[in-house]
Amino acid sequence: MAARGGLIVAIDGPVGAGKSTAARLLAARLGYRHIDTGAMYRALALKARYLGVDWGDGPALRALLERMDLAFVPGPAGQRLTVDGEDWTEAIRHPEVDRGASFVSVHAAVREAMVARQRALGAGGGVVMDGRDIGTQVFPDADVKFYLDASPEERGRRRHGEARARGEQATLEAVQVEVRNRDARDMGRAAGPLRAAADAVRLDSTGLSPEAVVEGMLAVVRQRQRGR
Ligand code: DC
Repeated sequence: MAARGGLIVAIDGPVGAGKSTAARLLAARLGYRHIDTGAMYRALALKARYLGVDWGDGPALRALLERMDLAFVPGPAGQRLTVDGEDWTEAIRHPEVDRGASFVSVHAAVREAMVARQRALGAGGGVVMDGRDIGTQVFPDADVKFYLDASPEERGRRRHGEARARGEQATLEAVQVEVRNRDARDMGRAAGPLRAAADAVRLDSTGLSPEAVVEGMLAVVRQRQRGR
């Protein structure tokens, strides 16, 4: 894909594979923007909860999304997510929002509108975008595609560590069950299911530090940059 401001790099994979951290670090190394598409689904779930819109009501969620202003705003301590001008960066990292995002993202009407926004956000290039359907639906012609995975046990342990760090009391077993449920919803839905694109570079982050994952990605991106 011809991208004037730099490459389009897509990172897909299941919950807990380390996509968002890898995408953020990779974007910083490349001087690119990072678009965390999961944060967009989370913001919709939270807005719906505030306004009493049912997570099962696709058309109402779509209408709500069309009225929402969603923006990624660079800041000194990292990028912030604003929704209708309010900073929701922390608010969307709540276990109830984890669940909600996984429900709102099954609706084809919601995905269609999200994909259109994500294409507009990445169109100029110079972007690392992470999610579930970036290499398959949002940018099937992305310059570089990664599918990042890790063992289910490790993904559960990482999510559990993050939950504990936020002061939540969830047990490791409960988090493992939630990870399995989210995998089933992400991979089993009809619209935009989680899949590795045929031309994605597959990486497994089990036992690797985020820095090691990013070094591996960077080597692939540099090679593509040279080949352009
Ligand atoms: O990556 P995350 O945990 O922040 O994603 C939140 C939810 O949004 C997750 O259940 C899957 C969904 N999602 C999606 O369906 N498509 C994307 N491109 C990104 C996230």
